[in-house]
Amino acid sequence: MDIPDDIFTEPDDVAPDTLANLGPLSRLAGIWEGHRGVDINPKADGPEQRAYYERIEMHPIDPQANGPQLFYGLRYHVHVNTPEEDIAFHDQVGYWLWEPATGLVLQTVAIPRGQVAIAAGHAAAGDMRLELKATRGTSEYGICSTTFLEQAFRTDSYTITVDFHDDGSWSYVSDTVLTVRGQSEPFLHRDRNHLVKVGEAGPNPLAEIVREQQKG
Ligand code: HEM
Repeated sequence: MDIPDDIFTEPDDVAPDTLANLGPLSRLAGIWEGHRGVDINPKADGPEQRAYYERIEMHPIDPQANGPQLFYGLRYHVHVNTPEEDIAFHDQVGYWLWEPATGLVLQTVAIPRGQVAIAAGHAAAGDMRLELKATRGTSEYGICSTTFLEQAFRTDSYTITVDFHDDGSWSYVSDTVLTVRGQSEPFLHRDRNHLVKVGEAGPNPLAEIVREQQKG
């Protein structure tokens, strides 16, 4: 990808209201719950399938510039539980970002297993599907893990497909491909769920400040 010669000058006509400028991510803003989660994870005696439920909070952040590059985005927190246990089944934080100028969509993923990933794809406002991928072994849109995981559960790729539905809900399928020590075949660690909105996201801080200033 060619980047501009001037890597420092930031855009000056930045719209402050993130919720109005999220493009293909606008349908993700808000507070969501999904009660029909299905997880397939690696256990010593083979794949384990578990049912789960989750709550996802996606809140708008202020517009973010890297010199001339401008992102609009959401900060998210995913918290997953199962009917059988009180302890968290999975927890995940990060950002969903969209670059209007190029259609680049990013999802950063940080999980408390000592692992981070940055997945990338492209989409336009109104698209009903998002497809993003991260691949181990590259510093652009890669995966980094603690030593134990690198040796015991090497995480080779992560893809997520999000489908938006006409009723305002959405679904995802995330596929994390693992090379488990002592196993010859790659393990497909699949998670999927359907999310329904249970609350609205408020404005990003800058939009709130501008709104107050306009009230005068
Ligand atoms: C809703 C999403 C997810 C759920 C419910 C989930 C759940 C699980 C569960 C139950 C295990 C088996 C180990 C254990 O019992 O703790 C596991 C293992 C693992 N997960 Fe996930 N996971 C999810 C998403 C992800 C994502 C997005 C990644 C990475 C990008 C990931 C990476 C791993 C790795 C590396 C392991 C192997 C570690 C081990 O088995 O000890 N998971 N996951």
